[in-house]
Amino acid sequence: MILHFFLQFFYCLSIAAAADVVKPNPGCQHQCGNVRIPYPFGIGDPSCYRDQYFNLTCRKDIETDDLKPFWGELEVLNISTLGEMTVGSPIGWDCYFQNGSSSSRRPYSINLYSMGPFTFSDTRNKLTAVGCDNKAYINGSWGSEFTSGCMSYCKDEASVTSGSCNGIGCCQSFIPAGIKKFKVTLESFSNHSQVWEFNRCSYSYVGDKDQFNFSVSDLHLYNFWDRSATVPVVLDWMAANETCEKAKANKADYACRSAKSDCYYSDNLGYGCKCLSGYQGNPYIQGGCQDIDECLDQTKNPCKGNCNNTVGSFICTCPEGTHGDPHNKEGDGCIKDSKEFPVLKVFLGTGLSLLFLFIGSTWTCWIWRKRKMIKLKEKFFHQNGGLLLQRKISSRRAESFKIFTTKELDRATENYSLSRIVGQGGYGIVYKGTLPDNRIIAVKKSKIVDASQIEQFINEVDILSQINHRNVVKLLGCCLEDQVPLLVYEFVSNGTLYSHIHETSHTQSMSLQNRLRIAIETAEALAYLHSAASIPIFHRDVKSSNILLDDSLTAKVSDFGASRLVPIDQTQITTLVQGTLGYLDPEYFQTGQLTAKSDVYSFGVVLVELLTAEKPICPNRSQEERNLAMHFISAMKENRILQVLEDRVLHEGQKAQLIAIARLAKRCLKLKGEERPTMKEVVVELQGLRGFHDHPWVNNNIEETESLLVGASQGCTSEASGQYGFENHFISIVEDGR
Ligand SMILES: *[C@@H]1O[C@H](CO)[C@@H](O)[C@H](O)[C@H]1NC(C)=O
Ligand SMILES: *[C@@H]1O[C@H](CO)[C@@H](O)[C@H](O)[C@H]1NC(C)=O
Ligand SMILES: *[C@@H]1O[C@H](CO)[C@@H](O)[C@H](O)[C@H]1NC(C)=O
Ligand SMILES: *[C@@H]1O[C@H](CO)[C@@H](O)[C@H](O)[C@H]1NC(C)=O
Ligand SMILES: *[C@@H]1O[C@H](CO)[C@@H](O)[C@H](O)[C@H]1NC(C)=O
Ligand SMILES: *[C@@H]1O[C@H](CO)[C@@H](O)[C@H](O)[C@H]1NC(C)=O
Ligand SMILES: *[C@@H]1O[C@H](CO)[C@@H](O)[C@H](O)[C@H]1NC(C)=O
Ligand SMILES: *[C@@H]1O[C@H](CO)[C@@H](O)[C@H](O)[C@H]1NC(C)=O
Repeated sequence: MILHFFLQFFYCLSIAAAADVVKPNPGCQHQCGNVRIPYPFGIGDPSCYRDQYFNLTCRKDIETDDLKPFWGELEVLNISTLGEMTVGSPIGWDCYFQNGSSSSRRPYSINLYSMGPFTFSDTRNKLTAVGCDNKAYINGSWGSEFTSGCMSYCKDEASVTSGSCNGIGCCQSFIPAGIKKFKVTLESFSNHSQVWEFNRCSYSYVGDKDQFNFSVSDLHLYNFWDRSATVPVVLDWMAANETCEKAKANKADYACRSAKSDCYYSDNLGYGCKCLSGYQGNPYIQGGCQDIDECLDQTKNPCKGNCNNTVGSFICTCPEGTHGDPHNKEGDGCIKDSKEFPVLKVFLGTGLSLLFLFIGSTWTCWIWRKRKMIKLKEKFFHQNGGLLLQRKISSRRAESFKIFTTKELDRATENYSLSRIVGQGGYGIVYKGTLPDNRIIAVKKSKIVDASQIEQFINEVDILSQINHRNVVKLLGCCLEDQVPLLVYEFVSNGTLYSHIHETSHTQSMSLQNRLRIAIETAEALAYLHSAASIPIFHRDVKSSNILLDDSLTAKVSDFGASRLVPIDQTQITTLVQGTLGYLDPEYFQTGQLTAKSDVYSFGVVLVELLTAEKPICPNRSQEERNLAMHFISAMKENRILQVLEDRVLHEGQKAQLIAIARLAKRCLKLKGEERPTMKEVVVELQGLRGFHDHPWVNNNIEETESLLVGASQGCTSEASGQYGFENHFISIVEDGR
């Protein structure tokens, strides 16, 4: 029961409090003519306005029949719940006759001291004076006295500009804040006598600066006394002249009791009410502060994405499927996202970085390798005596000799493909190659050259590059960038003399004349090397497989891999005995002393090969005669030379001629080098023997001879295989004390 009583009691209290707030009562008039009259202002019944200071009257204008609200004697033009009220204010004027006497003058004053918490707005109003002979004063008080004013002057109408109130025909000045009372007075300098023609009156007032736009035509205004001219002046109003704290304490009179209403205080003026931020409306009435839907007004929200209004506020969100800062209107705002997006981003990111890493490292590696290759090439070039050679070549200006790059030769030989091999020997492999200008070349890849022999090698290359003999294979150039030196020769198309003599397919094609010619050409080449070149060159490996034949069976001596230059002051080169078994000079083999005669010996063997078509070494012969030279010499001794000659030779040659050739060969094969002829002598003798070509002396005797031959040669005359000089019997003996 007691509890119920208390509940009832508090209920009644709350009703009473609420009834107090329900001012203005619902029946109040809130409109008068065109002017809306919000509470705390009201018309008529005291329940319709806050207190007597907000008591308006709505009157019918006598002239126009319009309803107009009045605040005291001032017409109300506009009321804002934000604390402003615009009222119609009188103006002051000062008019003259042409003779200079005053025709009408009205200073004016307004006093709000009895009107409650109202003041003239200093921000909205200015003292304005118009006229060409005008001094306007304003004095007044806002607690203390103040005097201010402005002067407008002009000589003629033309000097006045519409829209500009800067002292010429029009002037303005500020008023102090918080004034409740002022008086405007006007004076003239010369009773408008100078400007009377276009300006009879001056006028001045305090009014809304925004509603005044000076025009030259304003100077023509007169007869102000005929009209009740007014101008708008803006008043600031408060709920009461007291602090918020005081107002709140006096609950019944507190103006800002409604929901979402707040109190604000202005110095010396009093307090007013305003809606909390996010709300708008009339803070002086219950339910007056309404939520602002900020989302409806783009200027009231910064949302980039979705805007969701809430009571008193709003929320910016990014639409579904996007992310980012929804408040950031200037920035990116909401960015569209997709489920794959981060995956794609990560994938792309890592992919790209990996790609860049890969490219970078590959490039670096490539550069590094390239540099290494270049360095290696340079190293080889130096190691192979490239500089020395270059110097020599440049000093002699050998035009036909060229230093090739590895690239050129790689291309020419299709990277040294197996199908390009045309010969293989003790000194290296020979490849057939094609230069870009379609010249066919033979590229010899030497075996690794001893560093100590480099200078000699270079000398050789150097010398050979200068040899220009029709029966010596021409050295076109070399390449020193590879680990081993590469030599480039002209390509000789028709194989080796060896293959022509010993291979079945060639056996019938060699006439005696051709054989002789080949012998002479070879001898000429050797003679040239021995004597004609600036420094004697010993070939050191003369053999049938080193004599190449071209299409017209012209001989070309090749393979100078073992060749040695013989320094003038040196007679012995004993470090290395080199040569091919069967061709090797026995004296050289025993003494290690290399002379020109060693080549003569080897040539003798080749000559015997040409005559007999037998191989220099034939295992089928008896132990002593396994060596062709031995075999031939013993045949000579036993006077059965004709039996060892090949049948076609026997057939085509004359006996005396053949015997002379055989004797020459025998001399070449002498064991003592001194007893052998020089190559020059050999050339001369062979050329002399060439004349015998008329009557083959064995014409009738072929069959007999043949039968004699068969037993002797026993299949050592030909061989099905045999290529470009495969040196199966090549020897290389390194002597002690090297
Ligand atoms: C309100 O103003 C009218 C007219 O000026 C006057 O008759 C009336 O007494 C005033 N009411 C109060 C409460 O001052
Ligand atoms: C009253 O003032 C408000 C702003 O304070 C303005 O929007 C409105 O147009 C004014 N009404 C009149 C009749 O001057
Ligand atoms: C000036 O002119 C007005 C009217 O024209 C006249 O009433 C007034 O008496 C004149 N004053 C003098 C001083 O002449
Ligand atoms: C201006 O008018 C006043 C009174 O009307 C008179 O006393 C004064 O002499 C006049 N001044 C001139 C310059 O006319
Ligand atoms: C303005 O000044 C005059 C004297 O020039 C004085 O009589 C009057 O009281 C003043 N007005 C106010 C509001 O101070
Ligand atoms: C004032 O009037 C002039 C013409 O008289 C016009 O060009 C100007 O725009 C006006 N300014 C305002 C603020 O109304
Ligand atoms: C408000 O009241 C204070 C003293 O209570 C006074 O000094 C002040 O001038 C008043 N302000 C207005 C605008 O009435
Ligand atoms: C925003 O408003 C929309 C539509 O009214 C609604 O679908 C959505 O859930 C709201 N979002 C938030 C965060 O309130």
